[in-house]
Amino acid sequence: MCGIVGYIGRDRAGRVMLDGLKRLEYRGYDSSGIAVLNSAGIQSTRRTGRVKELEVALGENLGGTLGISHTRWATHGDVTVANAHPHVSSDGKIALVHNGVIENYLSMKKFLDGKGYTFQSDTDTEALTNLIAYHYDKEKEQDNKSRFLEAVRKSLTHVEGTFGVAVLCTDCPGELIGARKGSPLIIGIGKNENLIASDVNAIAHCTQNIVYLNDNEVVHLSSEDFSISTTNSTKVEAIIQTVDWDTAQAELGDYSHFMEKEIFEQPESLKNGMRGRFSDDASTAVFGGLNLSPQDLRSADRIVFLACGTAWHACLVAEYLIERFARIPVEVEYASEFRYRNAPLDKNTLIIAISQSGETIDTLAAIREAKRKGYRTLSINNSVGSSIARECEGGIYQYAGPEIGVASTKAFTSQIMISAMLALYLGRLRSLSYGDGVEIVKAMKTLPKLVSETLDQSGAIATIAKKYAKYEDCLFLGRQMMFPIALEGALKLKEVSYIHAEGYPAAEMKHGPIALISKNCPSVFLATSGEIFQKSLANMQEVKARKGPVICVAGEDCELPEADIDEIIRVPKCHEIIQPILMSIPMQLLSYYIALERGCDVDKPRNLAKSVTVE
Ligand code: AGP
Ligand code: GLU
Repeated sequence: MCGIVGYIGRDRAGRVMLDGLKRLEYRGYDSSGIAVLNSAGIQSTRRTGRVKELEVALGENLGGTLGISHTRWATHGDVTVANAHPHVSSDGKIALVHNGVIENYLSMKKFLDGKGYTFQSDTDTEALTNLIAYHYDKEKEQDNKSRFLEAVRKSLTHVEGTFGVAVLCTDCPGELIGARKGSPLIIGIGKNENLIASDVNAIAHCTQNIVYLNDNEVVHLSSEDFSISTTNSTKVEAIIQTVDWDTAQAELGDYSHFMEKEIFEQPESLKNGMRGRFSDDASTAVFGGLNLSPQDLRSADRIVFLACGTAWHACLVAEYLIERFARIPVEVEYASEFRYRNAPLDKNTLIIAISQSGETIDTLAAIREAKRKGYRTLSINNSVGSSIARECEGGIYQYAGPEIGVASTKAFTSQIMISAMLALYLGRLRSLSYGDGVEIVKAMKTLPKLVSETLDQSGAIATIAKKYAKYEDCLFLGRQMMFPIALEGALKLKEVSYIHAEGYPAAEMKHGPIALISKNCPSVFLATSGEIFQKSLANMQEVKARKGPVICVAGEDCELPEADIDEIIRVPKCHEIIQPILMSIPMQLLSYYIALERGCDVDKPRNLAKSVTVE
């Protein structure tokens, strides 16, 4: 998703912003640009394509003491230089970058047309840029400082939609303004310099002291100071926090891609997520930030999970785990559907959002809808201080480390692990016995080692991937807890290799999708031992009978008719509560290696964004 970096302070604005945009590249974008204010006015450079194009165009011009920059993920207007940000008002006074969508931009443009403002782009953003210039021009009687701030404030109150913005004005070389509504924005506090960014990763190399802006807040910065107020001028006390991870974690190291790094980091990321979260008697989990008492949690008689994409698949696994181990009814909703569905919920329903970025606007909006109705809200997320983390009553941080690859891998297995620990915790508040709890804790502590063993098969999986990279269709099939993993496997393959892939409950295949089976459509089966194993075998036979290639991912303890299966990938025998995590690893590796074989950009797949902060 789009990115913002703004800078005010020493003579290095261009360099700091370019480095910041490079750190934001993983979020997904289609064009980028930088504007620096100097004695000659606003110097703007914009390019489509990778940030590298912008870097080449900038050359050595990386100075300046005030600037704004952007990576765009187009919503209004094609991917062109004219539509790239920063946008400059037609009177040349105001430059602005924007994350989000301005829903009423056409009425804004109509009004501004009538006031003599002209437009060079098809974007919604340019309407806001000219609107600020209009209000700035109207406030002539005020001094430049308050005039600029007032013009931004007034304009933002007219916006219907979402924004994260950074703005500069040619008459105010010592000021930078930022504001947010629905799209994240962070202030970086440096030494003789201050920054604005949409993601802490963009500025963590400059400062570890940050302030998270909240919706409808405006920050007014100079090189030495800053103040925060609301769009209706109420002063806001800043809460300065310290970023707790060094930027090295977000570096590639010896890996070829972030996706590869994050797949192979999973023993470590899972260990970090479990650290300090088991009780002294090792029979349950303990969480520090739920902010709900055991009594509150015992009174929850239904849980509704809200999420999008991969996180939604994690919710489906959580549903099986919590219903199995805590016997609490669980529903899973697409966040984007929940916010408009007006679902009738029991009064003691607990709402849980899962979100890696903690900024997905559909999930944030769904949480706000639940809170508006008075429901208790928790979140499972991987971004400390993110909007969803701050707006839920409590939650559980994943501590999986920054996930840079657009296709989620370690964040997904971390979400499933946290869900398993939550199921254990809730189960031990209810009918799960001490002995069962001890058994589960023991099983969870084996995870890092078993994940490492599964990763050891990466070479064999890469070989299989080469054989299946040429197909254009693929089915992923699993039963019970393997069904969400089938969905996730299909999403991974779609996302990074652009192969059309679908996930289904294995039994559902015969109710229609079997029509797709032929020698040109392989099926990936996820088979685990237990009462449904034989039924999974039968489904594989149904595919083979129609000449469909079969790749089977199965536990070591599953007896397979090896002659009837084209490819077999084994995962270590384990407790059922951690099976979904182990079975996810081959899905991730298969997609990664197939995508490489097809020459795809695994870290920045076309059209995708890491955190979707537009609806
Ligand atoms: C994951 O592979 C996808 N890139 C995407 O579906 C993602 O899971 C979804 O956008 C939700 O993101 P979040 O977890 O940050 O809320
Ligand atoms: N809506 C703006 C545009 O299309 C900003 C999109 C984004 O968030 O990058 O230019």
